[in-house]
Amino acid sequence: MFQHQSKVLWNQKVGPDYYKIGLTCSNHYSAAKPGQFIMLGFAGQTDPLLRRPFSIHNLIASGGKIQGLALLYKVVGKATAMLAQQRPGDFVDILGPLGSGFIIPRQAECLYIVAGGIGVAPMVFLATQLYGHNFDFSDSRVFIGGRTKADLLCRNDFTELGLAVHTTTDDGSAGDQCRVTHPLEEALAHHPADIILACGPMEMLACVIGIVEKHQVPCQVSIETMMACGMGACLGCAVESRHEPERYLHACLDGPVFDAAVLHIGAEDGLVNEKL
Ligand SMILES: Cc1cc2nc3c(=O)[nH]c(=O)nc-3n(C[C@H](O)[C@H](O)[C@H](O)COP(=O)(O)OP(=O)(O)OC[C@H]3O[C@@H](n4cnc5c(N)ncnc54)[C@H](O)[C@@H]3O)c2cc1C
Ligand code: FES
Repeated sequence: MFQHQSKVLWNQKVGPDYYKIGLTCSNHYSAAKPGQFIMLGFAGQTDPLLRRPFSIHNLIASGGKIQGLALLYKVVGKATAMLAQQRPGDFVDILGPLGSGFIIPRQAECLYIVAGGIGVAPMVFLATQLYGHNFDFSDSRVFIGGRTKADLLCRNDFTELGLAVHTTTDDGSAGDQCRVTHPLEEALAHHPADIILACGPMEMLACVIGIVEKHQVPCQVSIETMMACGMGACLGCAVESRHEPERYLHACLDGPVFDAAVLHIGAEDGLVNEKL
């Protein structure tokens, strides 16, 4: 984990409330795993005082070296509004890479990636890394859901990597008018996936977990709890273990990516990271 002042390379609006920002980072981020996040703050600012968590959306490489990282973010409050004001050459404070990443089982060939809203942010990094490791996407699919057309992000990032993408919106303004979990369940009925990887609102994740239990498919979910420190110091991100109700896990340390079955990822799960 490293803390440093990071220079803004670019900051682009990509939707009504959505932006992508490129930030310089150290070469240590070459070891970053999809699903890991950074804590971002504004040096010298007392409001907002606390850093905010953001998933690594992608790495920016040049000449075989990592030059920076990209974040995809939605403006929802003070910190994200300030981030949208940053211009090339400005500096922000970043701490990372933090947390756990997605773990792809060695034997997995068919991945279903499920993303709701801004939950698509870490999934582009995941798909890009797999592509870089020559993963064959011919059986895999991405399911992206949003409230409206404006909330459907990154479709082209996936199709350019050769991934089939299914989109849904709540209001029918683009894709199918249904919850993103509907086409996921249809796809599972026709072609079982080896693993499902999901990130999005808790309600969506709860539905995904219900589906994977019904279909008996391994699944990892990335959860976006409130986080004050990102390092296990404040207990603000505690989530309850499903099988040990008295036991609390830290989303920042134990997650944010968890095995959906137990909300706990351990070596005993027999999962390895060979494809990343
Ligand atoms: C591991 C992790 C990764 C994340 N990755 C991204 C990302 O890639 N892109 C992105 O846009 N956002 C991401 N988030 C959410 C992001 O951290 C919040 O949107 C941000 O902290 C809001 O800060 P703010 O000061 O702008 O808004 P605030 O004023 O702090 O909050 C504005 C509103 O958003 C709600 N809110 C704030 N944080 C969260 C949260 N974590 N979950 C649910 N609701 C929240 C608040 O309750 C409030 O209603 C991530 C969160 C976590 C925990
Ligand atoms: S965010 Fe402070 S303990 Fe997890």
